Amino acid sequence: LARRLSHSGAAPARPSFGIAFDIDGVILRGRSPIGGSPQAIRRLYSEDGTLKIPFLFLTNGGGVPEQKRALELSEILGVNISPAQVVHGSSPYKELVNRFENDLIIAVGKGEPAAVMVDYGFRKVLSIDEYSSYFKDIDPLAPFKKWIVQQPDNKNLMSEKVHPSYDVFEERVKGVFVVSDPVDWGRDLQVLCDILSTGGLPGSGRGDQPPLYFASDDLEYQAAFPSERLGMGAFRIALESIFNQVNDHQLKYISYGKPNPFVFKNAANILEKLAICMHPSSLPTKEVEEHRFSTIYMVGDNPKVDINGALKAGPPWSPVLTRTGVFRGKDNDPQYPADLVVDTVEDAINCILEKEC
Ligand code: G3P
Ligand code: MG
Repeated sequence: LARRLSHSGAAPARPSFGIAFDIDGVILRGRSPIGGSPQAIRRLYSEDGTLKIPFLFLTNGGGVPEQKRALELSEILGVNISPAQVVHGSSPYKELVNRFENDLIIAVGKGEPAAVMVDYGFRKVLSIDEYSSYFKDIDPLAPFKKWIVQQPDNKNLMSEKVHPSYDVFEERVKGVFVVSDPVDWGRDLQVLCDILSTGGLPGSGRGDQPPLYFASDDLEYQAAFPSERLGMGAFRIALESIFNQVNDHQLKYISYGKPNPFVFKNAANILEKLAICMHPSSLPTKEVEEHRFSTIYMVGDNPKVDINGALKAGPPWSPVLTRTGVFRGKDNDPQYPADLVVDTVEDAINCILEKEC
């Protein structure tokens, strides 16, 4: 990373600012770049392609390992994004690896949720697709579904020949991690209610709820469709209200992602490390505890999530709101006012560079 980020010529001064970009509704809609994002992001690099301004992507999305997302973003934006510059909603899950050392855990969501968890260091992971496929009739609606659930290696999970990697009929699930937006809500709500109500063994009697984690709590987000789409927070509400109806106790869970202030603290630390890699001479004598930026801009489209989070995190965070996603207002958001409101991410970068450089 240091080699890729370091400057080959005379060392310029270390920038006194960093930038965190939200992805959905700011950089992309679906997989398509928006708001002039490719050319705007390129302005943060020198002509030789090395990073000039410390920045990262701080998204509540996910579903693929950060390394893979970095490659996808590099391709879409035409610059070299390092995995260290990608923070997903699920990224803090890696801090929980020791807690679930040899425990069977279930990974939920679009993309490759199990691969994400294995990449973080978890050892016994099954995706909810794979897990559900071993329990005959667990989803009474499965025969009516027109699609066939497949693993990334194209093993047909509906096939009789597939055997579980773990004894799922004996071994209790010890943790459930919602990594990215769930795909088959109906099946997932049913199977998660089973796991969470029975102490981790569908079909058995009632038992203690295993820990449940959500990578974020976005009610809505901006995808390719013109109006907002229901996000992980909407799924959480559905699961929570159903669980609370079918049990005589409340669902317990922890949600990560923006607007939690610790997400912003972690992002500030990553930006600090990036800045040190770009300018090794700026390494402080003691361990990095505090960032040394005078401003860190959070460029986001969702007032409740991105702007609220940056406001809660406080200085040096400075929120910038774009009009390419959830927010479409003319002026500022009344509840979570940003320091700056612009049309696009390109306008945001132009304003930031004009002010700072
Ligand atoms: O599923 C993604 C969504 O919840 C938010 O993504 O990039 O706007 O934080 P982002
Ligand atoms: Mg967004």
